[in-house]
Amino acid sequence: MTKHIPNLQVALDHSDLKGAIKAAVAVGAEVDIIEAGTVCLLQVGSELVEVLRNLFPDKIIVADTKCADAGGTIAKNNAVRGADWMTCICSATIPTMSAALKAIQEVNGDKGEIQIELYGDWTYDQAQLWLDAGISQAIYHQSRDALLAGETWGEKDLNKVKKLIDMGFRVSVTGGLDVDTLKLFEGVDVYTFIAGRGITEAENPAQAAREFKDEIRRIWG
Ligand code: 5RP
Ligand code: MG
Repeated sequence: MTKHIPNLQVALDHSDLKGAIKAAVAVGAEVDIIEAGTVCLLQVGSELVEVLRNLFPDKIIVADTKCADAGGTIAKNNAVRGADWMTCICSATIPTMSAALKAIQEVNGDKGEIQIELYGDWTYDQAQLWLDAGISQAIYHQSRDALLAGETWGEKDLNKVKKLIDMGFRVSVTGGLDVDTLKLFEGVDVYTFIAGRGITEAENPAQAAREFKDEIRRIWG
């Protein structure tokens, strides 16, 4: 089996479209996946997805909607604007997730995927239901607010990530990541590291993205 080197995804959580586009132009070529972040989507809507798709026709674009309901409509709206993948919150119902998957695949074929955003309380029994529904990507998230309240990345997170991978998920990891956090995951088959502020708020965002990539290659290459 070919060894997977984790992808790098940039999250554009700007409060304005211009800021998000400026950051996308600066770092788009350095990353594997570009995320239309929740913060910006809530401000400007899926126009952000469309602009990113036009700027980067060959990149994977994710709409981080954290969709909780109306999965089919929201997935269709984002897919037609150019999203390959879309996120649903883990507390959404299976019908919402399934409707979102169906809609995104109607536009994108097999390339269309739904990712489950893990926040708060969820169980491995629920996770099995997501797999059964044909959803095999999960995003393990340390929330911005939990991190601000003093939470840190640690062994408890690693164990959950490893268990989800063992169940068959491709697991992305995110939440306040910086280059130094990555080594904590050494030996774990992380699918994608998602970094927002660690890249976009750096003095030189393109350089910051390259440093993330270099560290990923050093550890997993
Ligand atoms: C917040 C998000 C962010 O996009 C994700 O956490 C990455 O941003 P940062 O690296 O700035 O924490 O989905 O809900
Ligand atoms: Mg996000």
